[in-house]
Amino acid sequence: MKQGPGDDLQEAARAPAADSGDGDGAGPRRVPRAAFISAGVAAAAAVAGGTAYLVERSRGTGLTVNVNGRDHPVAAAPDTPLLYVLRNELGLRGPRFGCGLAECGACTVHLDGVAVRSCVTRVDSVGNRQVTTIEGLGTPSNPHPLQKAFIDQQAAQCGYCINGMLMTAAAFLKSKPRPTDAEIKSALAGNLCRCGSHYRILRAVKAVISA
Ligand code: FES
Ligand code: FES
Repeated sequence: MKQGPGDDLQEAARAPAADSGDGDGAGPRRVPRAAFISAGVAAAAAVAGGTAYLVERSRGTGLTVNVNGRDHPVAAAPDTPLLYVLRNELGLRGPRFGCGLAECGACTVHLDGVAVRSCVTRVDSVGNRQVTTIEGLGTPSNPHPLQKAFIDQQAAQCGYCINGMLMTAAAFLKSKPRPTDAEIKSALAGNLCRCGSHYRILRAVKAVISA
């Protein structure tokens, strides 16, 4: 099977000289002219493809996403998960890659205030909706009340799940400012924490409600 443009030349070099149709069968084996031409065409196509890719990247895809109040052009392909654009293009490392399958919640961000899993959200599906990441929820000098409560309650061990816990809880409390314990647990049930920090997380969310 051919792997690349150079393979035509290698195949031709391995083939019997009599098959080449380009020599008399004696003396050093000659690579047929057709092989140079087909390898040259394949090499040119590969170069052209690479150039097109680079031009495409430098131009961007024409997509723009509004993240944390600012518009950003997107260079990635339209079907790229929003999570990859946030982390790789915008350098926003708060949203985490956990499962990539919408099952753990580590990648949660807000779209117009609604918690979504950015690992399974295509960037071209965002449209005009506003993306908020944890970097836009609060700042070290002006943290969101939930961020402050999580710090006060030391509601984390490794911290990997905390982006998702905070973003999910923040969206939930907006829609339900006075939930019961059962409702908080239910709202956060889809966010996995392998460290078992659930009780502290629950305490932190309750602290915000009662503040
Ligand atoms: S990484 Fe998105 S839900 Fe797990
Ligand atoms: S604190 Fe480690 S996964 Fe939740």
